[in-house]
Parts: sequence; structure tokens; C-alpha cells
Amino acid sequence: MSGGRFDGRVTIVTGAGRGIGRAIAERFGSDGAAVVIADLDDATAAEAARAIEAAGGRALAVHADVTRPGEVEALAAAATDTFGRIDVLVNNAGILRSTRAADVTAEEWHLVVDSNLTGSFLCARAAYPALRDSGHGRIVNVASMAGRATSTLGGVHYTTAKAGVLGLTRHLAREWARDGITVNAVSPGIVDTPMVRASTDAARMTQVLASIPLGRLADASEIASLVCYLASDEAAYITGTNVDIHGGELIIA
Ligand SMILES: NC(=O)c1ccc[n+]([C@@H]2O[C@H](COP(=O)([O-])OP(=O)(O)OC[C@H]3O[C@@H](n4cnc5c(N)ncnc54)[C@H](O)[C@@H]3O)[C@@H](O)[C@H]2O)c1
Repeated sequence: MSGGRFDGRVTIVTGAGRGIGRAIAERFGSDGAAVVIADLDDATAAEAARAIEAAGGRALAVHADVTRPGEVEALAAAATDTFGRIDVLVNNAGILRSTRAADVTAEEWHLVVDSNLTGSFLCARAAYPALRDSGHGRIVNVASMAGRATSTLGGVHYTTAKAGVLGLTRHLAREWARDGITVNAVSPGIVDTPMVRASTDAARMTQVLASIPLGRLADASEIASLVCYLASDEAAYITGTNVDIHGGELIIA
């Protein structure tokens, strides 16, 4: 696909087999980027890559668990080996657990923090040399309204991990600005994805919808629009910031 704002650029999107990550990957693909689809789930990753190719784009599915440093290094290497460069990294992979604080085991704590926070750091570190070489590297971290306030559907580990993603965003933005890399976060409210459907029954959904001034969940494509803006040339002077996208659920100064 050509004539798009990301022509010639290469993007890695983690957790891109389904949900928000897939919508982000498809938007990059239709806007001209070559997209590396990284996911734990090989079947959905392959399907997402096929969909981008069927629409005329370029894509590569790579098995990667973002919590495993070796797999993350191999992911960055696969991107540069196949497409020659990395211009954008979207840290989207994450998991949600709803266990109440007093019942969270150490194992579950580490799983949630590693998947949402440590994985984002590992991917940023692995992609850094190529992002620096790109001359206009972009990192967009998918945080959450959970990290800005407290989670509606998730537990203490999820809230803590997403708050950590905002700190990671600020720190990397400052350290890597001289390398021409911008680092920003987006904090969605509640988005209609498999993650949300798996953790919300009909009664809970009614409550959730009542708490959103715009009266509906976000569509994943709306998160993709924001992520792609932050990854575009138009956003070159935006770094170290977070953009909330939640239909008015958290209106604060
Ligand atoms: N859905 C929401 O309401 C919402 C709101 C705010 C933030 N978020 C965040 O957006 C991101 C995507 O959420 P979603 O709703 O699309 O979730 P989802 O569960 O529908 O999709 C997540 C994808 O990430 C993959 N994944 C999970 N752990 C991984 C790992 N360790 N390594 C590689 N891939 C992994 C899964 O296989 C899956 O394909 C997450 O970081 C989530 O916390 C979601």
C-alpha cells in the first residue's frame, strides 16, 4: 500500500493478534507502514498479518512473549532482518486480572506487572538502537485510565502496572529525546475488546455504561487513531506525555 503517512516506515505492535493491538496494526498497515505483529498467540497473529496483506499492506507475524527478554530481542531482530529498520514501537500487549488485593498471589502480581509494565520496558530497550538509527523513532505505550485513577475492571496489580507505564513513558522520553525518539502514552477508558467482554457480565456492563458520559464503550479503531497520530510526523514535538481517551469517564484538571 502506498500514499500513506507511514510509507517506508516500520512499526512493531505488541499484542496485535486481537483487540486494540490488532486495530492499531491494521491502521498502520493501511497507512503504508510495514507492520510486525507480535503476540503470544500465533494463530491470531498470523490471521492479523494475513488481513493486512490481503488489504495490500506488508506484515510479519512473530511469536513473542514480551515478558521474556530473549524473545523480545529476537522480535527486534526479526523486524530489522525482514524490513531493515524500526521506526515505531507500540507497547500494547497486556493482561487484566480482577482479583481483590488481599487475594493476589505473588505469582499473579508478577504476571500482571511483567505483562503490562516490564514487557514494555524490554521491548523499548530491544528496539532502541534501531529507533535511534531511524532518526524519528516513536514509542507509544498503551497505558490505561487504571493508571491515572484506579481500575474499573482490574485489580491492584493492573492499576499499579499501568501507573508504572506512565512513569516509564516520562523517563524514556527524557533520556531518549536527544536520539530523536519521542515517547508517549495513551490511557483508554473501557474499550470493546475480548479482554473487556471476558471480564464483564451484563449487569456489570450496565453499571459501566452508566458511568461513561458519552454513554458507550470506545471502539478499538478510536484508540488506533490516537496512537497513529502520536506516531506520525505531525506529533514530532509531543513527547513525555499521556493522552486520555475515555468518553468523559475521568474529567479532571
Ligand atoms: N480493553 C480495554 O478496555 C482497555 C482499556 C485500557 C487499556 N487497555 C490496554 O490495551 C491493551 C490491549 O487490550 P485489549 O483489550 O485489546 O486486550 P485483549 O486481551 O483483547 O488483547 C491483548 C493481546 O495481547 C496479547 N498478549 C497478552 N500478553 C502478552 C505477552 N506477554 N506477550 C505478547 N502478547 C501478549 C494477547 O495474546 C492478545 O492478543 C492492554 O495493554 C490493555 O491493558 C485495554
